[in-house]
This record gives sequence, C-alpha cells and structure tokens, in this order.
Amino acid sequence: MIDAVVHGAGEVVVGPDAVHEDAAVAVADGRVVAVGPTDEVTREYPPENAVAAVDAAGRAVIPGFVDSHTHGVFAGDRSDEFAAKLRGKTYREILAEGGGILRTVRAVRGAGDERLLGNLLAHLDTMLAHGTTTVEVKSGYGLDAETELRLLEAVAAADDRHPVDVVATFMGAHAVPEDRDADEYTDEVVDDQLPAVAEQGIAEFCDVFCEEGVFSVEQSRRVLEAGAEYGLTPKVHAEELAHIGGSQLAADVGAASADHLLHATEADAAALAEAGVTPVLLPGTAFALGADYADPAQFAEAGATVAVASDFNPNCHSQSMAMAVALACVGMGMAPRDALDAATRGGAAALNRADGTGTLRAGAPADLIVLDAPSHVHVPYSFGVNRVATVLKDGAVVHD
Ligand code: NIG
Ligand code: FE
Repeated sequence: MIDAVVHGAGEVVVGPDAVHEDAAVAVADGRVVAVGPTDEVTREYPPENAVAAVDAAGRAVIPGFVDSHTHGVFAGDRSDEFAAKLRGKTYREILAEGGGILRTVRAVRGAGDERLLGNLLAHLDTMLAHGTTTVEVKSGYGLDAETELRLLEAVAAADDRHPVDVVATFMGAHAVPEDRDADEYTDEVVDDQLPAVAEQGIAEFCDVFCEEGVFSVEQSRRVLEAGAEYGLTPKVHAEELAHIGGSQLAADVGAASADHLLHATEADAAALAEAGVTPVLLPGTAFALGADYADPAQFAEAGATVAVASDFNPNCHSQSMAMAVALACVGMGMAPRDALDAATRGGAAALNRADGTGTLRAGAPADLIVLDAPSHVHVPYSFGVNRVATVLKDGAVVHD
C-alpha cells in the first residue's frame, strides 16, 4: 500500500541541487519512493490507491524543517526581560542579576512534571503548525541531576506522544547555579549529572555554554569528553557573546555542531569545516539581542554545510523556522534556496542524521510541507506570516 501521493505541485524542492516543476511525491513505508513530473509519478503510483492523496494545486512543496537547536522545555515567562533589553540592559547583566537562565531554572524547579510536558507539547504544536518535523530540545534549566532528568523525561514523553521527532540533548552545563563556582559545578555535571543521564539513556547529545563568564574552554572540554565516554555526541555553544575558543574546542572533540558563532573568525570556520563540524547559525538570537549577525559566507567558503535553527528559548521566543529563514536572508545575506537548505538538510547534518532527512530524495523520510504559496521563496518573502498549509510526517498527514 502506498502511504501518500502529493501531486500537482507547482514545484517540489528536493534538495540543494534539485527543484522539480509540475511535480509529485509518492511515499511508501514512510519514505519517499518517487519524486518527479506529476504525470509520471501518478502513472506508477495512482493517488486513488494511496492512504492520503494530497492535491497541491500548483503550490510549492518543500522538506519539513529540521530545527537543530532549541531550549524548548521550560516554565515561566521572561517577556519583561525582552522589554528591559530594549531599554539597554544586556543579556549578561540580566544573568548576573540572577535573571535570564537562572530565573527560568527557578521556574522549572517549581513546576511539576505535567506542567513541563504540557508546555513542551504546546510548543511542539506551534512548531508543527509552522512546518517543523524534527526538533532538537536541550535540557539545561534544571542545573541539578534530579531536575535535568525531569526535563529529559519530558522530552522523551513528548517524543512518544507528538508527531514531531524530538531529539534530546543534555545541557547541564548551561549556566552556573547562583550558589556555586564554575569549577565546583563542572565537577557536579561530570560526576553526578552525566552518569545519571547516561544510566537512563535519554539523551543523544551533550552540549555546553562555552562562554566568557560561564564555562571556560577547559571546563567545557571536561564536560564534553566525559559525555563522549558515555556515548553522548558533543555540541558546543561557541563564540556567542565573546570569542574564547569554543569553535576550536568543537573541532578538537569532533562535535556534531558548533552553534551561534557570532564572533567566529575565518580560522574557526576553517577548523570546523576540516573537522566536519556543522556550524549552526541562529539569526533569531542576534535579532532578539540586537546583536550583529553571524556571517554564513565565512563558513560556506570554508566548505562547511551550514545549518540555520530557531534557538527557541525564553530569550529568543519564536518557534518559527520560517522566521529564522527570513532573518537568514535579510539579516545574514543568504539566498532563499541556501537558507531553506540550511533549515532542512543543514539541520539534519547538525543532528548527524544521514538518512536523507531534510531532503525529499528517494529513500528519505517523507517529512514535507505543502506551502500555501507558489514557490519556496515565499517562506522568507512572506516574513511574519505562516505559509504552511499541510504537513506530512513519515508520509502521514499530521497537520492540515
Ligand atoms: O542559546 N546561550 C545560551 N543559551 C540560550 C539562551 C537561554 C536562555 O536565555 O534562557 C541560547 O541563546
Ligand atoms: Fe542555545
């Protein structure tokens, strides 16, 4: 039985090097089995034989978004900090006063499991409605073994219950708790939190906020190397607020990605490309902070596959990958096709997904979006407007 045939699309964006016009996609066993001219595909796979027949009616079809960087499980509200930042307060001043991440930690510790899961599921609903079919979610608002585990359990439960694929990252090294120093807390992450997380087997990646005034390169290295011993693949928040060497660390430890990179140098870009580390650019964060954007050309010229992600978190409060794509185009100068590729195939690279995720090539998971628009350019062109009409995940219609 054929799962789905999406036919009559004005265009199907298959990947960075292929866009078919007047095209169709056929799906069996959750995977793309054919993509090409509608008449050819529907002759071999008649829509009437499919569980789902979707008439794209001249609209564009693109791969589902792969959002490779979010802090999507949290509680509380920090909208007043957004307003304070607009009045001139900096991110680090807010954190130093016990606000920012530390304030979300207090809210999370005070929230029950049901609240954490409910909040995350609501965010996943919003993400799906905006076309995200795979999302990475980090812990890091617990900062003790018990609460970090509760966050990762919410991520696992959400992955079970929700059509969006949810990929878990342990990020105990997200901030230093108010009553600790960074060395002492690094020991706790390595000696208490990591073994507990590894024992539960509920995280795939281990991330650290390698930043001036947060975790040094050496502290970050300790956490990532210990995580790798437990089988957790490293990721690094690198060169976001200052340049301290997080990119070189990511290259040294063979990280899946180095993320933010607002202050990365050409040498950093070369080191990442050489080590096969995916640079993940987060234009929403620069936008929300009023900071300068990262430079995607630097990484592309070095030969890296660039990813664009939302960084959805209380400091960057947008679940929309289309918004990230619009900012990547207008703020970072990316071409719409390149930005879209970074938000799909690039995201899959940042999550070490090598099965075609983020493309619509034959064999890839059939995660796709029918846009309410004639071309993929409308994703950034219609900024601030959701042009997602229908979403298929593994070949099933999950949003319409
Ligand atoms: O990626 N930089 C560190 N972590 C997040 C912000 C988290 C927060 O402010 O709650 C980020 O931007
Ligand atoms: Fe982040």
